[in-house]
Amino acid sequence: MRLFQPASKLALSALLPAGFACTGGSPAPGQNAQDHPGRAFYAQYCATCHGADMDGGMASSLVDGQWEFGDSREDIYRSIADGIPEAGMPAYRDVLDERQINLIVDAIQGVEYVPVSRVVEDEPEEYEVLETLDYDVRVEVWVGEGLEVPWGIDFLDASRALVTERAGRLRLVENGQLHPDPIADTPPVVAQGQGGMMAVTVHPDYEENGWIYLAYSRALDDGTSGPSQTSVVRGRIEDHRWVDQETIYRAPEDSHTNARQHFGTRVVFDEAGYLYFVIGDRGDPPTSQRLDSPNGKVHRLWPDGSIPEDNPFVDDEDALDTIYTYGHRNQQGMDIHPVTGDLWTAEHGPRGGDEINLIRAGKNYGWPEITYGIHYDGRTITRERFRPGIEPPVWVWRPSTALCAIEFYRGEQFPLWRNHLLATALRNEDLRLLQVRNDRVIHEEVILRDRGRIRDVTTGPDGAIYLLTSRPHQILRLTAEREVLR
Ligand code: HEC
Repeated sequence: MRLFQPASKLALSALLPAGFACTGGSPAPGQNAQDHPGRAFYAQYCATCHGADMDGGMASSLVDGQWEFGDSREDIYRSIADGIPEAGMPAYRDVLDERQINLIVDAIQGVEYVPVSRVVEDEPEEYEVLETLDYDVRVEVWVGEGLEVPWGIDFLDASRALVTERAGRLRLVENGQLHPDPIADTPPVVAQGQGGMMAVTVHPDYEENGWIYLAYSRALDDGTSGPSQTSVVRGRIEDHRWVDQETIYRAPEDSHTNARQHFGTRVVFDEAGYLYFVIGDRGDPPTSQRLDSPNGKVHRLWPDGSIPEDNPFVDDEDALDTIYTYGHRNQQGMDIHPVTGDLWTAEHGPRGGDEINLIRAGKNYGWPEITYGIHYDGRTITRERFRPGIEPPVWVWRPSTALCAIEFYRGEQFPLWRNHLLATALRNEDLRLLQVRNDRVIHEEVILRDRGRIRDVTTGPDGAIYLLTSRPHQILRLTAEREVLR
């Protein structure tokens, strides 16, 4: 099997053997064969006799192409359902249902697992139900029209959410109703290429202080064109107008450029009250390694923009004081782990190098010195993937999914998913659930696909999962229809 296995994945591969990937199936890019739900049933009911890798043990191999009792789908199904009493193969008809047996047959035959979705029609409103390993998930369109490339979302209270549109607008949604007018007087943005209005984050003490943070590509002259760089401001909303604006972060003048890519960004607050945001390499990879450049960094500030005295590089004359970590390419996902309080980020890598990183003060994350990825045109960037002193990723995608936002699930709707990581993808147009144990990812499941490029994910106050999609430009709302065992 040629799938890459970072250290954090070893535990998983020990539990779920690689045999399936060699049985001739062709899992779609990113659809890791180990995720196949048929594998879980196999491990539970069959592995003791047919071997953990399906390659035999007390009973014969199921992956050697030799079939004593028939090799068609129906034959294999029958062998499992009815058993072969004379040979000592138990019957599973009363233990497993049709769907479960079919999943095992799929796993044996190397058939890719695609989460089944069906439209429920006898309800007043049509909605889709996704079958995931833990839940049947109801997918509703929360906002269906009126948005253009929605980029970031955050909730103000139980019923109202703010949504940015990359073109430069801040929108208000109340109970699924999009307010027809954007919030007035928000700052001008350079809405070109990947730039524009990006992150929106409501301060954790919003009820007391009213602060809302925006991050956007800001022109050097505060207009809508010319050299630009990522900037963070805060303001309040009164009478549907943006007021009281203060600049929280403005990059050094010489870092503004006409490049229109890799602006980052998200804004998050941790328990201690620090504010974190990110800037990408702006298309100039070597700047990620330079501590006098804001590019390719995680930055840490106090919420008023002042610099924490314990930032890792404040004593370094040549380094920018806001820098918290360096060596990043373009991070568009950030969240704080609800239990450990650690900052995790999602980094959009080159071809084949999307990463989840666990952020530790002062560390170097390697870009572009080491990476799992290659250039988009196929050229090698480096063959080096590990180097002492450089932080390895927690998780890597090869091929890339075009990783975007991440969110640790925190709500009541999906108790089995609490503290697990939701990760969205642009190119792959999917939402993945990563099971996290301590500092490791131990399992990955695609839970939604083909609903457009997904730029942001958040847990709403109601525990539902909200997704911002592009093409179609919508906000989706995911709730648990019921818990299941698959
Ligand atoms: C108690 C041991 C045992 C368990 C558990 C068991 N099997 Fe079997 N199975 C056998 C034996 C014995 C045979 C007969 C052929 C042989 O000697 O391997 C067999 C035959 C088969 C065959 C037919 C193979 C052929 O050559 O046509 C299939 C398919 C199969 N098992 C699938 C499964 C699956 C799937 C499970 C789990 C749901 C399972 N078995 C669980 C013992 C077992």
